[in-house]
Amino acid sequence: QRNFTNMLDVDQDEALALIQRAEEYKHGAQLRLAEPVYVVNAFFENSTRTHTSFEMAETKLGLTQIAFNPAASSVSKGESLHDTLLTLDALGVDLAVVRHPEDRYYEPLVEGGDLGLALINAGDGSGEHPSQSLLDLMTISEEFGHFAGLRIVICGDIAHSRVARSNAEILQRLGAHVFFAGPEDWYSHDFDRLGTYTDLDAVLPTVDVVMLLRVQHERHATTGFSADAYHEHYGLTHGRAALMQQRAIIMHPGPVNRGVELASDLVQGRQSRYVQQMRNGVFMRMAMIESVLRANQLGGIE
Ligand code: CP
Repeated sequence: QRNFTNMLDVDQDEALALIQRAEEYKHGAQLRLAEPVYVVNAFFENSTRTHTSFEMAETKLGLTQIAFNPAASSVSKGESLHDTLLTLDALGVDLAVVRHPEDRYYEPLVEGGDLGLALINAGDGSGEHPSQSLLDLMTISEEFGHFAGLRIVICGDIAHSRVARSNAEILQRLGAHVFFAGPEDWYSHDFDRLGTYTDLDAVLPTVDVVMLLRVQHERHATTGFSADAYHEHYGLTHGRAALMQQRAIIMHPGPVNRGVELASDLVQGRQSRYVQQMRNGVFMRMAMIESVLRANQLGGIE
């Protein structure tokens, strides 16, 4: 892809090819760049996993990272995102990995056609999180080897979650049955076309994957929120975990609030794939970067 901005642009074959390439990287494949590629990671929202694993993926692929800190940049003087990227482009940056709080921030940048650098979306507001979605697909694929017919419940703050949107979108196209659960106030009927909103306790015994989401306190008013009450009503308590099939897995994109979305000792328990998801993220991001480099004829890759 020229740019990697959302999962709607990723067809099933491409998703499967990216999983295969990420598995090759996981098993030691290496990419040799014949020409330098300069990359900036521009994170306008905080991040641990996505930011660091893009840095790790870029380092493993041999890209040259150019330091950029939004807080110390001329964004603080009012420079727009477009003009910031125009500047980085003029300085010779080939690829920008951008996280930004605004939904679909990338649309005017891509449609404007005046930016020469390639763009990877590392998360836009409540919009999309394609690299998280693809690493989640990789993790599910490692477990089950297929997607068709899998039953997957996504639970929590659905309406404000870019992870829920990206995952539901591609999982449905890959033939999985997607269910949503969580507070009704935090569900949006926009999601009805992607799955079925249901009761968590009713669906838990029937699913292969339980995907839990963090409450997005930064995106909507959550005054009066009680972590204990949320855990009791919508969290994966020990009682609810006991309803799951033995072979079913627990996933969470992180960061986890232990004791809220799920009981603390389930985070690294037998059925959890939380650590595996983070590990897979490096290899999936290597595959995504390679795909963008090839589409833009960057790096002199044969
Ligand atoms: N899953 C995820 O996007 O985590 P970070 O916000 O730490 O990058």
